This record gives sequence, structure tokens and C-alpha cells, in this order.
Amino acid sequence: SWSLISIEQLTRSDLEELFAAAYRHRSALESGEPCSMSSEAIVATLFMQPSTRTRLSFEAAALRLGGKILSMSDPAASRAGSEWKESLADTARVLNGYADVVVLRHPVVGSAAHYATMSTVPVVNGGDGAGPGSEHPTQTILDLFTIDDLCGSVDGATVCVLGDLSQRCVHSLLAGLSLFSDVTVLAKTEETTRLTERELQRHARHGLKVEYVDDLAEALRRSDIVYACGHEDPTHEIPLDMRLDPRTLRGARPDLRILHPLPRGVELPTSLDGTAHAAYFEQAANGVPVRMAVLERILSSCGSAVA
Ligand code: CP
Repeated sequence: SWSLISIEQLTRSDLEELFAAAYRHRSALESGEPCSMSSEAIVATLFMQPSTRTRLSFEAAALRLGGKILSMSDPAASRAGSEWKESLADTARVLNGYADVVVLRHPVVGSAAHYATMSTVPVVNGGDGAGPGSEHPTQTILDLFTIDDLCGSVDGATVCVLGDLSQRCVHSLLAGLSLFSDVTVLAKTEETTRLTERELQRHARHGLKVEYVDDLAEALRRSDIVYACGHEDPTHEIPLDMRLDPRTLRGARPDLRILHPLPRGVELPTSLDGTAHAAYFEQAANGVPVRMAVLERILSSCGSAVA
């Protein structure tokens, strides 16, 4: 059976297969067609950190595929999050008997991989930790799917990444972008949230060009996509020159599209929501068909799918 812990497990052809399945699921959802797959699987969402999009879109995806949900969204109400601090290993041993797939979100880097060592059912990393080694692979699949959808291809895209590069969604995104050809990343970030030298070297080895920029407006003129992501610490004061607004976007190409993993901060004012640049709610909506594609692949790999 197949667990999804890191975006680095995937090849370009894996991503292309997932995109094709997600396009198929999205069309079927839009036209109200019944899902071609009917699964009896129980998907457990074990979230030890807050989430709106990842948890609910996984649950919607599981329900759309005909599966069932076992949800634990208040960690304080479980043994794993209480003062008893039941270990992840023991939690995995218990959930092995309760669910067919586990989606885990956890504040500590490496938790999904650790959980998977004790799990007899497939595990999906719903985001673990922050900083080096942190990952959010399904966010990246839906981000890349959205770029493919908006630009016609990820190949050749120029993506301005705006914000704290130490976040798990950015780590996974850059690793995912490096699977495509001729992608340029223009990074507008603070000194304290740059990539480590090791990360930069790894991306360069995989052919991904990462160029730091000072002038956001100039970077937007060169970009197909701006991926704004704010700061890991919601109390951090985002500098004025790192916020999108109608003035910064004045010189941008008309087809520049703004993505954001959400939730937003001051870097993405609501005044941009009605502009042709805004694509972040489309991106969030893509979470359902993309996670249907991920669950379908997992359930097919462990024989839980009923076609
Ligand atoms: N983008 C994302 O991971 O959102 P949630 O924290 O709401 O799941």
C-alpha cells in the first residue's frame, strides 16, 4: 500500500496521473455526475493542529468517493493531545484497527514519517511542522494542479514566491516545481526567512532556478503566478514592501494570477478578491478533486477501492 509522506516521493509522471484524475473528478463534480468509484473505506483525519481546508477537503473527498470519515479535530479531547500525551506510535497501533487510511497533521517535523513506521494502513501527511524538513505534499499537488490549469503547463512558469520561505507549503512547493522544466522562482522574502544554503543547492541540482528579488512590483511584471504565503508566525509584522495591493500590481501582466494557501494575512488584502488576478479560492476549491485523486490512488493500491 502507498503512503504519501513527502512530495519528493513523486515523479513528474505520478503528478501528471494525479492531475488527470483530478481534472476528471472536477468535471464530474461540476456536472453532477455520480463518482465512478464507490469505496467503503474509512478515512481518519487525525489533526493535531488547526485546519479548515486540508481536513475538510479530505473529508469532502472521502465522502465524494463513497467512503466514510472518522474525524479527530480537537486534539485536546484525545489522549494524543491531552496531558496524558499518548505517543504517536501507540495512537497508530490503535488506529490500525479503526481506519483504512489516516491523514495526519502534526506540529513536529517528521511526524508523518514516524507515524507511518507504526501504521499498517496508508498515511497521508496533512502538513507536519515548520522549517527545514517540514512538508505539506497534498497542498503542493493542488498548487501545481492549479498552476497547470491556469497556465496550461507548469513547464516554463515564472513563479514569484512572496513571504516566509521556511513554511512547509513553500518547502514542498519548491521541491514539486523542481520536477518540471524551465521553471524560475523569484523569491521576495525577509533575510530571516530565506532558504538554507543546503536547500538552495538541492534545488539548483534539480534544475530549479531560485532568484532573490528586492523589488516586488518588478518581480510581478516578470511572473505568471505570485504565490503569497505570509509568515509562519501570525503575530509577525509583515513589512509594507511584502504586501500585495492594487498599487504593487499596477505594472503586472493582466494574466498574472495570485495563489495563496490561506488563511490570509495582511499580505493579501480583500480588496484584491474581485480582481482578475485573484485565483486563491479556485485553488482552495481544487483541494477536493485533487484529494479525491490522492485517496483514489491510495485506496486502489491497498485494494479498498470498489470500482
Ligand atoms: N492551506 C492549508 O493547509 O490550510 P488549512 O491550514 O486550513 O488546512
